[in-house]
Amino acid sequence: MSDARSSRIEGLHKMAPEARLQAVARQAGLGNAAIASLSAAAQGQIELADRLVENAISAMSIPVGIATNMLVDGHEVLVPMATEESSVIAAVCNAAKRCRPTGGFFTSSSGPVMAAQIQLLGASDPENVRLKVYERMDKIRAICDETDPLLVKFGGGFRDLDIRVIETDEGPMTIVHIIVDTRDAMGANAVNSMAEALAPRLVEWTGARSLLRILTNLADRRVVRARAVWPLAEIGGEQVRDDMLSAYRFADADPYRAATHNKGIMNGVSAVVLATGNDTRAIEAGAHAFAAKDGHYRSMSRWEADGDGNLVGILEMPMAVGLIGGATKVHPTAQANLEILGVKTADALARIIVSIGLAQNFAAMRALATTGIQKGHMALHAQNVALAIGAVGAEIDQVANELKALGKVRQDLAEEILARLRAGK
Ligand code: MEV
Repeated sequence: MSDARSSRIEGLHKMAPEARLQAVARQAGLGNAAIASLSAAAQGQIELADRLVENAISAMSIPVGIATNMLVDGHEVLVPMATEESSVIAAVCNAAKRCRPTGGFFTSSSGPVMAAQIQLLGASDPENVRLKVYERMDKIRAICDETDPLLVKFGGGFRDLDIRVIETDEGPMTIVHIIVDTRDAMGANAVNSMAEALAPRLVEWTGARSLLRILTNLADRRVVRARAVWPLAEIGGEQVRDDMLSAYRFADADPYRAATHNKGIMNGVSAVVLATGNDTRAIEAGAHAFAAKDGHYRSMSRWEADGDGNLVGILEMPMAVGLIGGATKVHPTAQANLEILGVKTADALARIIVSIGLAQNFAAMRALATTGIQKGHMALHAQNVALAIGAVGAEIDQVANELKALGKVRQDLAEEILARLRAGK
């Protein structure tokens, strides 16, 4: 990066996307190939990109693949997954197939209930403040529901208060949680608007100062549970089952392993969240915070053997996704993916997503407890490496096949193979 480069581009946000791209290209010293790539990727996408984010210059597409074999609460579902990672979709297909003999995935949910926090500080009597707020429950309900009459019309709206006094480095604070049924919306806009409308009244009633007013992504009132039973015969026998249970116990006891174990779960979860235009960061933040709710970071899933020796998997996690609002509603690919899923409610979508997370976890644990993860990754990884070193057309398979035959998927070896192929040797 040259020192002469500046990050200031006057009026970038006011330019049309094509002009923005040119301005960025000039400033970043982009070559023609990079400009052409960004420009080509923008085709058909840029209008929407420009509406969704600031300073848009292009768009970036992520592969969408379909997870087959999913049986959720007795319904057959095809599940679109948006991910750039090889093996993730194949893993779900395989895990879902292996639990079909026992009925697939069974789910339950606590309903679409979100919370926003209002921070009250500066009072010498935080417990008194807490009670004063509780006493205004009816007024609070009215203020919140008036903020979003449409939500109320659809059966949602204010449900409850949860008020805590927390200890902080600057003394106690009273934290007011407004609990809201957000129906088919993810709910961020609804609860944030309610919190902002309510905060001045809380100040008036309590004499405390209000500061932050924002939803919590630790959506522990919007928890979805999925369960599936994998028959012993589908696992590969008792030894594999017991090794999978040891793998689970390792993750549950050790945060270093839990991070990776849970990352695998999120490979499945985030792919469906993204495919449906939902907020992957909100889901990820909530999932990891929930996994640490006992005071230490643990496995998001639970595993045990049933009386017949089969393997039972359970995944229970917050799942704040919506069908209306945000990119879900305006992104045509998200809409098409929802059509493939055939879901009519946010709750139904959430149940499928958690089932996918569980399937992913089964597949990863089984692979790790048996052949290891590299074997399954090898074929697709070899193709990626071939692509990355510039192989084109038939060369991609030729390079990938040679790498696989060598049992070593390495960039230096791929370069040697490609050079040899091109030299006609
Ligand atoms: C890779 O993206 C995910 C895994 O590492 C998950 C796991 O270790 O359980 C395979």
